[in-house]
Amino acid sequence: MLKELIEKRNIPLVWDGTAPWETRRKELVDILLKEEYGYMPKKPTDISFETVMEDTSFCAGKALLRKVNANISFGEDKYTFPIYCALPNIEGKCPFIVHINFRSDFPDRYMPAEEIVDRGYGVLMFNYKDVTLDAYHKEGVNDLYSVLYKGEEIKSDSAGKIMIWANAASWVLEYALTLPMADPDNLIVAGHSRLGKTALLAGALEERFKFVYSNDSGCSGAAITRDKIGETLWLITRDETFRYWFNENYYKHRDDVHSLPFDQHFLIAASAPRYVYVASAKLDSWADPESEFLSCVAASEVWEKLGKKGLITPDKLPATSDNVHEGDIGYHVREGAHYFSREDWNRFLDFVDSKIK
Ligand code: GCU
Repeated sequence: MLKELIEKRNIPLVWDGTAPWETRRKELVDILLKEEYGYMPKKPTDISFETVMEDTSFCAGKALLRKVNANISFGEDKYTFPIYCALPNIEGKCPFIVHINFRSDFPDRYMPAEEIVDRGYGVLMFNYKDVTLDAYHKEGVNDLYSVLYKGEEIKSDSAGKIMIWANAASWVLEYALTLPMADPDNLIVAGHSRLGKTALLAGALEERFKFVYSNDSGCSGAAITRDKIGETLWLITRDETFRYWFNENYYKHRDDVHSLPFDQHFLIAASAPRYVYVASAKLDSWADPESEFLSCVAASEVWEKLGKKGLITPDKLPATSDNVHEGDIGYHVREGAHYFSREDWNRFLDFVDSKIK
């Protein structure tokens, strides 16, 4: 059944298995950057961190809450944004999550920090708007976008905002690597919705993320674009909506999604053979759970060709009670609407626990 559902979508083959996987993986990333998310105009010349606040009473002392400024230099120019950290008060090392969030609140309605700490995970969270505004760039606004594009021409394949947020996740990962209690082999990137799209891209770009978690990321995230319901490429790239998330080449495909030389299963596959987790919500038809799930099914062939497990699923669409957790790609669809809930976190962390504990 799933095979037929995938065949109907007419999506390009992700890997025919002839070229070595690492070569093909780099090609996938390149296709995604060229046609959708764009290339960064500059790379940092230096990254440094400074602690600006600490609170030892967070979660009754089970974790240290710390605010750190990340200083990102591009030659003479520097941009600074804050990272909010929950550092578990433990002996030894633990997995750390880089959570790309909508707000700076800690905890936040999309991030039950105490429960996450209780489960033995550290958290590094940043507010995506502290990196660059979620809007078309305006002259005179001092954000990372102005620093990146200072003296640079904007081309049809220049980075849109999702690419800039995804790069910021890698800079936050650099901070994790300075922490004695962060296990460098178990670093996780997570995000919801537009930031789920961002988390998938961050995972594709940054191989030091061992687990990549996209929650309700939908259009231009986990969901297959061809024949998707709810939000479409045309809708997401309207001038008055989110065209600035992407590069201009993406916009050119808006009237004919079949002209795309890829589909979103390339984005999932670009993190193979690491772990990818996709979560959907049953009532989130804008994101389209079926298209998110089928993308995992389609990407799975890469893991299988590499002798790994991919997505292990019965030949049917999952029910909300199913945890598709056995393979290297994990999936769940929960009851309810678009949201990053405790249930999502717990089901995802059950998956991670089952792989590392
Ligand atoms: C809008 C947008 C989606 C996005 C969502 C979000 O609904 O159309 O693509 O995922 O916002 O980020 O909450």
